[in-house]
Amino acid sequence: MHELRSTLLEDKLGIKSFLNSFLAPEFMRILKQDSGVLVTLENGLVKKTVRGFNHSGLRYYNPEEMVNREIKALQTVRGIKGIQKFIKRTSEDTFYSEYMPGPCLYYLKDKLNDSFFDALTKNTNECNKRGVYRIGQHRRDFLILPDGKPGIIDFGNVLFEDDPMADIPFLNQVAVCYSYLRIQSLRRRYT
Ligand SMILES: Nc1ncnc2c1ncn2[C@@H]1O[C@H](COP(=O)(O)OP(=O)(O)O)[C@@H](O)[C@H]1O
Ligand SMILES: [Mg+2]
Repeated sequence: MHELRSTLLEDKLGIKSFLNSFLAPEFMRILKQDSGVLVTLENGLVKKTVRGFNHSGLRYYNPEEMVNREIKALQTVRGIKGIQKFIKRTSEDTFYSEYMPGPCLYYLKDKLNDSFFDALTKNTNECNKRGVYRIGQHRRDFLILPDGKPGIIDFGNVLFEDDPMADIPFLNQVAVCYSYLRIQSLRRRYT
């Protein structure tokens, strides 16, 4: 039910969900599909298959390297509140994570409380402290969980503190500033 509700909320026109509910239940399970990635729901888990070369951490990586990096990020930040949980890897280009219910900021029409952004800042700071800096900060990857607290998914595009390019002077600090400013701008937009 959560899955259906989330799909409905993320489907602006409602057409895809309407058709899916009658015609093609398989199709409803596709969360994202493009040339770079296929993300589906499978038995309540999110399956992510990386298909092509992707940009992450300031350079390009092949699918196996991309998945290595995303799993490393998810495991490093494991336990921080509201963070997507890694479940298992099934091949070099595919892994599963826990499905997090709730609409994303991208489709949100309502306003949120400051406390949402306080929690988002806190959880993001925790990730930064563990040396995982999220560079991709798309509104699709910030969720509003059923308890009203923020959820963060998609650690595909990150800089690690032990990445060779993190040696560039001040790059880590720039990444921390960026995450702070990004959340501040979302706060202005949604409160
Ligand atoms: N753990 C998850 N829980 C809920 N939805 C998810 C989860 N992982 C991915 N999604 C959905 O799939 C979309 C694409 O997954 P994502 O990991 O962000 O791929 P990409 O790196 O291509 O942006 C997300 O924007 C979200 O709608
Ligand atoms: Mg994403």
